Amino acid sequence: MRQPYIAGNWKMYKTVPEAVSLAGALASALASERGTKVMIAPPFTALHAVRDALKGSRILLGAQNACAELEGAHTGEISLRMLRDAGVTVVILGHSERRHVYGESDTLVNRKVRCAVAEKFEVILCVGETLEERQSGVTEKVVETQMRAGLAAITEPELAQVTIAYEPVWAIGTGKNATPQDANAVHAFIRGLAGSMYNAAAARALTILYGGSVKPENIRDLMAMENVDGALVGGASLKAETFLPVVKYDR
Ligand code: PGA
Repeated sequence: MRQPYIAGNWKMYKTVPEAVSLAGALASALASERGTKVMIAPPFTALHAVRDALKGSRILLGAQNACAELEGAHTGEISLRMLRDAGVTVVILGHSERRHVYGESDTLVNRKVRCAVAEKFEVILCVGETLEERQSGVTEKVVETQMRAGLAAITEPELAQVTIAYEPVWAIGTGKNATPQDANAVHAFIRGLAGSMYNAAAARALTILYGGSVKPENIRDLMAMENVDGALVGGASLKAETFLPVVKYDR
């Protein structure tokens, strides 16, 4: 049914030579990988070079963000057209660092999602609550608001281009991962919500990744959960020694 999906978010790490070296190592180690869909999202400056390093590989090339406009006077932004030009097919949008550190609103995230879907990219839309929100018991409310706003105007056929990443903000880069049961409960809520926003078949087909301190030691238990279809991996995606065991969690 839903294909397992492991995505690496390199964040603001790696020069071009470092990125090429890691991408090359992953491409050769995963040359025969068939079961799991794999994506890596290097920083913008390394995209062209990583595309070349991935030539002939099944690893998908992703970007960590994109502008909501295709071109224009947007100093410092990168458009989806430029990303396509660099070989990118997947774009991560609404990451918590974009929302909380750079002030991206649900409205802006939705404009980006709509633009990326219209441009035929695959979108990984990130949602997730802060520690304060979890402690005050509003996790589902926060996730619902981000889902409804982020997916506004996205039609049911277009939802097939969208993957959801549930990333509790308190678990990102902190070493504190959500328990597999906690993650599964929110994933089940997200799937149920997709069922009410779209329909049961669309909800069943929706891939939902977990993100937040995923590593070789916890991936297997997370993947054993019914509603966890994969992972969006930050820190552990920066080295082949930690990313490959996450990709090969079932071996
Ligand atoms: P982490 O990051 O794995 O380092 O916690 C996950 C993410 O931010 O996507």
